[in-house]
Amino acid sequence: MAVLTGKTALVTGGSRGIGRAVALRLAADGALVAVHYGGNDDAAKETVTRIEEAGGRAFAVRARFGEEGAVEQLFEGLTAGLAGRGLDILVNNAGISSGSSVSQVTEQEWDRLLAVNITAPFFVIQRALPLLNDGGRIVNMGSTASRFAVSTQIGYTVTKAALESLAPSLANELGRRGITVNTVAPGAVRTDLTAGYTSIPEVVAGLEAITALGRLGEPEDVADVVGFLAGPAARWITGRTIDVSGGTYLGPIA
Ligand SMILES: NC(=O)c1ccc[n+]([C@@H]2O[C@H](COP(=O)([O-])OP(=O)(O)OC[C@H]3O[C@@H](n4cnc5c(N)ncnc54)[C@H](OP(=O)(O)O)[C@@H]3O)[C@@H](O)[C@H]2O)c1
Repeated sequence: MAVLTGKTALVTGGSRGIGRAVALRLAADGALVAVHYGGNDDAAKETVTRIEEAGGRAFAVRARFGEEGAVEQLFEGLTAGLAGRGLDILVNNAGISSGSSVSQVTEQEWDRLLAVNITAPFFVIQRALPLLNDGGRIVNMGSTASRFAVSTQIGYTVTKAALESLAPSLANELGRRGITVNTVAPGAVRTDLTAGYTSIPEVVAGLEAITALGRLGEPEDVADVVGFLAGPAARWITGRTIDVSGGTYLGPIA
């Protein structure tokens, strides 16, 4: 029997990129997956279809983070889809990036980064607490940007550092219920979010040169780690950040 048979999962931003790979992985492991997305209906439908064609179960829920009432809208769709069941796995993955240095970030951009990358996941967690079953899992999608300097993504970095800071406190608060809370911190992964620079060979070569395993990440590299954290084998890991970057920027490579 698959390890997540009988479990339920919500993957925010589950329609594309890393979130889609996570949704596919959790569904392949047996979970009923709520595929949340912000606006691209076709991508969400495709993710649900791919899960169903592989023999899994999923439903899509639309809610645009950063807009008034989005978290409520998400939970209306989620509770309808769960049809009375609780939630076992929450993956806070939806996020946006920005390519602005300190002198370029506008207040509007700053507010939007905070709204989507930290305010929304915080209130998704708050709203999910009464639904979360004992023994549940929360996984937040951080970034290696909070480990080393990326001056052109300073606003994004702040949001990812803030998101990462939630896990220890939440782990302590929820641990007596057997609920674990961890952060996964990917390095550069090929998705729509990074297409602007992963399509430039010189940039890719530069990133490969500072990565121990010598390549960029694929969404499945991250999804497999989320799948592990969501499963029973990770029951004794909580409050931690797991770097999933192929060893990016560990130090000089001889
Ligand atoms: N790719 C990387 O190299 C990398 C590295 C480190 C961390 N991460 C993190 O990993 C997560 C996923 O990144 P990705 O590269 O897979 O991104 P992506 O390919 O751009 O996919 C983003 C997903 O989030 C949803 N989303 C975006 N804005 C939203 C909003 N305002 N409200 C609701 N949903 C929204 C999108 O849905 P719609 O299409 O419907 O809007 C989509 O499902 C992000 O948190 C990102 O910061 C990525």
